[in-house]
Amino acid sequence: MTLTVLGLDGARLPAGGAEALAAAEVVVGTGHQLDAVPVPAGARRLGVSELDGLDRSRHCVVLASGDPGFFGIVRSLRDRGLRPRVLAGRSSVARAFALLGRSWDDVTVVSAHGRALGPALNVCRSRRAVAVLTAPGAGAPEIAAGLVGWQRTLLVAEDLGGPGERVRRHDGGAVAEPHLVLCLADEHAVPARGWIAGGEPPPPASGWALGEDEFSHRDGMITKSEVRAVVLARLAPGLGRLVWDVGAGCGSVGVECGRLGAAVVAVERDKAQCARLVANASGHGVDVRLVQGSAPGALVGLPDPDAVFVGGGGVDTVSACAGVAPRVVVALAALDRVAPCRAALRDGGHTVDGVQLAASRLAELPDGSVRLAATNPVVLLWGVRGSR
Ligand SMILES: C[S@@+](CC[C@H](N)C(=O)[O-])C[C@H]1O[C@@H](n2cnc3c(N)ncnc32)[C@H](O)[C@@H]1O
Repeated sequence: MTLTVLGLDGARLPAGGAEALAAAEVVVGTGHQLDAVPVPAGARRLGVSELDGLDRSRHCVVLASGDPGFFGIVRSLRDRGLRPRVLAGRSSVARAFALLGRSWDDVTVVSAHGRALGPALNVCRSRRAVAVLTAPGAGAPEIAAGLVGWQRTLLVAEDLGGPGERVRRHDGGAVAEPHLVLCLADEHAVPARGWIAGGEPPPPASGWALGEDEFSHRDGMITKSEVRAVVLARLAPGLGRLVWDVGAGCGSVGVECGRLGAAVVAVERDKAQCARLVANASGHGVDVRLVQGSAPGALVGLPDPDAVFVGGGGVDTVSACAGVAPRVVVALAALDRVAPCRAALRDGGHTVDGVQLAASRLAELPDGSVRLAATNPVVLLWGVRGSR
């Protein structure tokens, strides 16, 4: 038996493809794919859901789209213990960026095809150039709806390789299936020259839990770096996740979550703090969506987070966050808030733990010797709900 996977991209069949098809006794594909190629008259036609019924004693050709080794059928075949010969077409992503005339080595490619849309959407919110493989119900309209509040341009690539092939701005109207979504923070920016495909992966080379002097802040009103280190560890920010930084102040926690790959919404009521936050985000090259307003009211309508840091906003805010997020971290200077916040997390179904942190830093004395300089003690509470 031979098993050949043939990637179709609308152009001529890959070298060797016509011969494999001519010899095929079984051809697997969607109705559209089976109609697009010369299937021998005597060959059996199978749908993609019938892969398990492949007769291993026959010459089989499996039709697929683009590069079948890229978010494609090669994985399912190998899962079944099959070792196909792969004749790849051009991937839809390569084709779309060629049409745009833009390089794409900086682009993060994510898939919402047969998977939850949430992680792909969060990558669109945090990264500046993203291509999304879509599926009906998880395509351009749903991505556009999820990006309200973020500055993004959505392009749709339709019928790649077909007669109606085009890349256009998504105008909110109907989009043909299948389609690819290109989500760009700046459509006209010249992509930075990197060394790794898909953009630099976190963590950033300069580490995390940055010093306070890396942020613009007022009178020491910033989560200290030792405390921030623990907060970040408990929030577990990363690519594909969404973090709310509530009572964000100058935004040091949110900015660091963004540096670690997460999408971030910061909620802050003070105008001057908001200005600092925007400057800090831009200074660190991360996108933070800012909502100026008071929590918990300002949280209404925001997309559900994977984790929340509550740096301010009181017990009601902790309750509201505990109700929507599987991870919540609360920083408290006032001891009388510890018990009610702990109760609020528990009432939200969280398993709660906490710690008091009081770091003493090395500080040089005039004679060159070293003393310990105490920072203000802080209580951290964190709640985790479910398996996340
Ligand atoms: C399972 S993935 C397969 C990707 C494929 N292996 C490739 O290299 O392009 C399916 C998704 O790829 C994109 N896609 C595949 N063919 C396309 C086409 N002709 N036009 C636009 N998008 C296409 C769509 O987002 C579609 O939902």
